[in-house]
Amino acid sequence: MAFPDTRLRRLRYNKIVRHMVTETHLRVEDLVYPLFVCPGTGVKNPISSMPGNYQMSVDVLVEECKIAVSKGVKSVLLFGIPEHKDEHGHVACQSDGIVQKAIRAIKAEINDILIIADVCNCEYTTHGHCGTIIDNDVDNDSTLKTLADQSVSLAEAGADVIAPSDMMDGRVLRIREALDLAGYEKIPIMSYAAKYASGFYGPFREAAESAPQFGDRSTYQMNPANSDEAMREIAADIEEGADIVMVKPALSYLDIIYRTKHEFEMPTAAYNVSGEFSMVKAAGEKDWIDEKRVMMEVLLSIKRAGADIIITYHALDAADILNGQK
Ligand code: PBG
Repeated sequence: MAFPDTRLRRLRYNKIVRHMVTETHLRVEDLVYPLFVCPGTGVKNPISSMPGNYQMSVDVLVEECKIAVSKGVKSVLLFGIPEHKDEHGHVACQSDGIVQKAIRAIKAEINDILIIADVCNCEYTTHGHCGTIIDNDVDNDSTLKTLADQSVSLAEAGADVIAPSDMMDGRVLRIREALDLAGYEKIPIMSYAAKYASGFYGPFREAAESAPQFGDRSTYQMNPANSDEAMREIAADIEEGADIVMVKPALSYLDIIYRTKHEFEMPTAAYNVSGEFSMVKAAGEKDWIDEKRVMMEVLLSIKRAGADIIITYHALDAADILNGQK
């Protein structure tokens, strides 16, 4: 049927009818809030390129988690800034490591929270790469051991979900085996399955103090030009035991999110990364865009593309808006 029988504007006529035919719904439960934990007490260092985000000591972090939970944001993703770094990132595997301490402190005070622990070496190595360096490149197989050790240590501390973000081949398998062997067969793995070598991670590297000291990450993270390869990465991670697969970044990769959801029908996460966040913030501060409106449009687009879970620094602001809509 064509015009004039069909008039698509009929279903936009007023707010109630528009709500009735809304196809995509963003929920507070979809959001995961990333947080940066550092040594000390009472520390709340602003991250200049990510307004409203901080490096927080454990005590401050616990309070921030309470605020998140009170707004209905019950999932957090933790990144650590350790006191000392080493060649291989062994500091990430210690039971008194910064994230391990943070997890214990959060769990001691908050019941109703899901802690997702990022697993990667880049915040813990002196050179800022995501694994052990041999011949000027990250060595895949020796890095797997550290990643598995880090995962078990985080699970021991009480992490609810393990999220490897390193892009080594075979890490999901090794981590799954190590978790099972240690008795953590119930702990799910959310793998950063299709993670691109992206310029959008810039602000995060300030936040996590994890910028590579030489070269870049293109021997392990994916080429932004490729999407069939992303499907192979995702298939491999599922085969190895990933419970949730992630696409990262989100906004320039909505086609990848769409393909992932449709080809694999797995719980799919998307990481609305630091650079995507900071662009919205910066343009908002200049009054070039309506920040809150653009934020909600961005998050909705990620959901519409197929993401079930959205990791975003906007989580608390978005929760305020979603809670206000109820
Ligand atoms: C660690 C890691 C990175 C991000 C999440 N985990 C940075 C990187 O790969 O350099 C980026 C997150 C963001 O930009 O918000 N490998």
